[in-house]
Amino acid sequence: MKRIGILTSGGDAPGMNAAINGIVDEARKHNIEVRGYLEGYSGLIANDYIELTPENVKPHHGRGGTFIGTSRSEEFKKPQVQAKIAKRLLEEEVEGLIVIGGDGSYRGALSLSKLGIQTIGIPGTIDNDIPLTELTLGFKTAVRNVVDTVDVIMQSAASHKHLYAIEVMGRKAGDIAEWAGRALDADGIIANTNDIDVEKVRQTIEDSQAMGKRFQLFVIAEGVMTCEEFQEIVERETGYPIHPLMLGHIQRGGNPVAEDRILGLGFGEHAVKLILEGKSGRCTSVIDNKVTDLSLEETLAAVE
Ligand code: ADP
Ligand code: F6P
Repeated sequence: MKRIGILTSGGDAPGMNAAINGIVDEARKHNIEVRGYLEGYSGLIANDYIELTPENVKPHHGRGGTFIGTSRSEEFKKPQVQAKIAKRLLEEEVEGLIVIGGDGSYRGALSLSKLGIQTIGIPGTIDNDIPLTELTLGFKTAVRNVVDTVDVIMQSAASHKHLYAIEVMGRKAGDIAEWAGRALDADGIIANTNDIDVEKVRQTIEDSQAMGKRFQLFVIAEGVMTCEEFQEIVERETGYPIHPLMLGHIQRGGNPVAEDRILGLGFGEHAVKLILEGKSGRCTSVIDNKVTDLSLEETLAAVE
């Protein structure tokens, strides 16, 4: 095998650079060139890439974001655009393609696999919303970011005996809210629609205050409601003043935690091995705490 291509797509996730590093390390063992297509599928459309080498990859291993850039590309969804790309990849002897991203990016990867390009997905999203894998790249770092940031805010909250409603990311998934909320010993975690019960919220606030806690914290998954909506309902029904706060992109940045770096390396190495075995339409995953792989089609069929 001569060369493979890789790209990162959708929301960036800490650990994507570590996955790129794992891919380049493994490819180097087999003398395979690695093209890094820039800005996600947009780079694939424009044939805009750089050669990835240990020299240009390794400085980014422990850094958040993705140093080859990412994007959301509507253009790539067009079948005629995908067909053109597949033709060019075959002509240029790019014999495999690794796509690091979320389920949207996986759909693109599956399309290319069906067009005869040996394509492998790596789950890179802070949301932890890819089915069948126990973990996605960046999730543990996002949880760390939420916990560290909210710890800081709660020092101020405790000084004033304030009540906070903190909205965290996750798209439709509540995993960041659940993990961070638990780690923070939050008074309430609103991670799915069944969790909204204003009477329960009132009781929780009163119990928390009665036990002498100097702040109250509710962690809300963005997929359920906004922090302002929570404020509006709770203030109207209970009279308790709420400080709403949307944490935003501080959750997605930052150097990846050790676990995401290790996972990135493992996913990257495994993806190259799959390509060398002639596999296509697969995605790396974690099952029983071990890196393995699954079918892209089955994974996407399980998306809610
Ligand atoms: P994520 O990969 O994090 O879920 P998006 O849903 O924004 O992020 O998807 C990233 C990109 O993947 C899109 O901008 C688009 O280029 C590509 N993509 C998404 N859905 C499809 C689809 N159904 N077919 C082909 N490509 C898709
Ligand atoms: O998928 C990652 C994610 O950060 C989601 O948690 C969030 O809903 C979305 O991306 C935000 O996207 P953008 O950065 O384009 O606003």
